[in-house]
Amino acid sequence: MLEYKYLKKFIEAGPSGDFAILRKAVEYGRDACLNELEKSGLVGRGGAGFSTAAKWKFAWNSSNVIMICNGDEGEPGSFKDRYILENGSFLLLEGLLISAFMLNSSEVYLYVRDEYKEALKSFHKCLGANADSISWYRERVNPEFKLKVIAGGGAYVCGDETSLINSLEGKRPHSRIKPPFPAAEGMRSLPTIVNNVETLSNLPLIIRDGGAKFSSLGVEGSRGTKLICLSGKVDKPGLYEIEMGKITLEKIIYGLGGGCSGGKIKFVIPGGTSTSALSAQELKIPLDYKSLRKAGTSLGTGAVIVVDESVDALDVACSAADFFKSETCGICFPCKEGNRQINHLLELIRKGEGQERYLGLIRDDITTTASCAARCGLGQSCGDLVSSLIVKFREDFSGRIACNGKNEGDSR
Ligand SMILES: Cc1cc2nc3c(=O)[nH]c(=O)nc-3n(C[C@H](O)[C@H](O)[C@H](O)COP(=O)(O)O)c2cc1C
Repeated sequence: MLEYKYLKKFIEAGPSGDFAILRKAVEYGRDACLNELEKSGLVGRGGAGFSTAAKWKFAWNSSNVIMICNGDEGEPGSFKDRYILENGSFLLLEGLLISAFMLNSSEVYLYVRDEYKEALKSFHKCLGANADSISWYRERVNPEFKLKVIAGGGAYVCGDETSLINSLEGKRPHSRIKPPFPAAEGMRSLPTIVNNVETLSNLPLIIRDGGAKFSSLGVEGSRGTKLICLSGKVDKPGLYEIEMGKITLEKIIYGLGGGCSGGKIKFVIPGGTSTSALSAQELKIPLDYKSLRKAGTSLGTGAVIVVDESVDALDVACSAADFFKSETCGICFPCKEGNRQINHLLELIRKGEGQERYLGLIRDDITTTASCAARCGLGQSCGDLVSSLIVKFREDFSGRIACNGKNEGDSR
């Protein structure tokens, strides 16, 4: 079976209308629910893949926990959260209520980028349709419970949890230095749990079926299913759900996506623009966190972008560099200046004014410095895709270097 519908099956079945899983969670109690969450092995679907139970345990005994659901979804190629919000708001709302219950949180935010008009409309409609369940929750569990839906300004950096918190506080969305981590000191210096839309949408399934059922899916370190956003040069782009670790990237592209529509695959970006590319010869790896890490890249948000042989790797690198240069918040020097430099050097190469040594500068100096010294993931991963393209498709870069050879002494 290529596609494994678990979360999608729930969404496709439509709302049941009574939030029975929330009622079951309240009946179980918060510690029993945490036990199921721990058993499930769920890790965050927003990119970092951090254990959800471990994060929640940092704030488990705190009062005044703020809960934020991250629906910013700015990663190019990613549209899974939009799918959930537009088609399965009822699942996310139930997940939000269960997490508010488990974390004893009276203050819950759903942060969605303003461009997601349909998603916002759908979630608001869902709030109206489930007003009875929300009233039940207030009467039976927490009279102070408030849920606010915030439309974000649509900057990529707003998806970083600390920038998002600044944005919610009405400040510029600059990333914050960590530690302190939000779970200890986040919004208004209170313990704050930030989780992705897909992560929280898995919670009702875990409570309904038990953590053991969830962890029976997938492989060690990558439990459950994952929504994959397949785009680029494939016959059937779209949103697919897979069992993690049980299907290779190649099968996803050829089996689910119908193969490369542009002829032959040149490379694949497996997790969005902040992840390193894999060449056509590297697609036999199973899609899970560990396997992709071993291959020198990462699952990111699950945005698989297929690029065919007609495309020049330098053009893709320039486009990624332009994106990161525009989206850096500029608060930390390695990211602000690093992105400016990567973009500048690549543009010089594209114009035929580059030197071979620029490739070493981008890869060894600027990317390494940003990955070690930038404040948030934007800067830490800004050079990953570009560097992987330089390593794997050097001829696309060197071929545009006019004085090739003349600078050989400089090259690294
Ligand atoms: C530049 C940047 C953008 C991010 N964008 C998102 C996003 O749109 N949605 C998201 O859930 N996480 C995003 N993240 C990751 C969040 O900081 C955070 O790790 C995540 O929301 C935690 O949720 P999870 O544990 O459920 O994955 C982004 C991180 C960075 C550095």
